[in-house]
Amino acid sequence: MLEEKRKRLNQTVDFINSHKPTSPTIAIVLGSGLGGVTNEMEKLCEIPYKEIPNFPVSTVQGHKGTLIFGKLNNVDVLVFNGRFHYYEGYPMDVVTYPQQILDGIGIKTLILSNAAGGMNPTFRIGDIMLIRDHINFFGTNPLIGPNDDELGPRFPNMSKVYSHRLLNIAHTVSAKLGIHLQEGVYIGVSGPSFETPAEYRMFNMFGADAVGMSTVPEAIVAHHRGIELFALSVITDLGIVGMLMEGGHEEVLEAAAEAGPKVVKLIYNMMPEI
Ligand code: HPA
Repeated sequence: MLEEKRKRLNQTVDFINSHKPTSPTIAIVLGSGLGGVTNEMEKLCEIPYKEIPNFPVSTVQGHKGTLIFGKLNNVDVLVFNGRFHYYEGYPMDVVTYPQQILDGIGIKTLILSNAAGGMNPTFRIGDIMLIRDHINFFGTNPLIGPNDDELGPRFPNMSKVYSHRLLNIAHTVSAKLGIHLQEGVYIGVSGPSFETPAEYRMFNMFGADAVGMSTVPEAIVAHHRGIELFALSVITDLGIVGMLMEGGHEEVLEAAAEAGPKVVKLIYNMMPEI
C-alpha cells in the first residue's frame, strides 16, 4: 500500500520538478474568491491540475484548478489556485494531495487562505483573521492509515502547528500597512451545509473564533511533513446571534472578493520577510 502510494506521489513530484522554471520554497493555497493574488504575480508557468499525473481536479464554483510558478514581490512562489474540499466527496487522501507533494518539490513554507464564518462577537464581515490554532471537527483525520515513517511521525505533536515566526511577521507588516488584523482559532468542519445558530454558538463555546470547510486537513498533513505554516481566514459571514446571514455561497464569494485586496497586500508585503 505504501509502495503504491509512494510511486504515485513520485510520478507527480517528478512531473512538477521537470516542468518548474524556478525552485520556490514558499507555496500558497488560495481559498474562495482570493484569486486576486495571481494578478499581482509575475507568472512564469501555469499548469492545469488535469495535466499533472495523479493530481485531483476541483469542482466547486469560485475555485480554479491550476498550479502557478511565478514571482510575488520578487520572491519565487508556487501558487495552488484551487483546492479540494471534503464536502466535494473526495477522501482525505485526495483533499490533502497537494500537501503530500510539498517536500518533494522543495517547499519549506506553506501559506493557506480561506473564507470563514466569524463567531467572535468582535469580528465583522471583511475582517482578516490570522489562524493561531485550529480545532479539527471533520470527524476524521487525513493521517489515518499506514504511516510513512520517512515522511513524518505516527503521532505528530500538534502543540505548535502555526508558526509564531510567521505570525509575528504578519503583525509587523500589517501594522506598517495599516491593515487591521484579528487573530484566533479556526474550527474546520465538513460542510457543505452552513451552521445552524445552535452550532455557531456551540463552536464559539468550544473556543473557536471562525468556522470553515477547509484548511485543517491541509495543515495537519503539512505539519506532519515538517512544513512551516501560516494561515488566514477572510471573515465572509457572521455566526453571531443577531447577525446571522441568510444567504449562502454567493454572499460568501462576494465578501471574499471584497476583502481580497487587503489579503493580497498583506501576503505581497510579507513575501520578502519570509
Ligand atoms: N461556515 C462554514 N464555512 C464557511 C462559512 C461558515 O459560516 N463561511 C465561509 N465558509
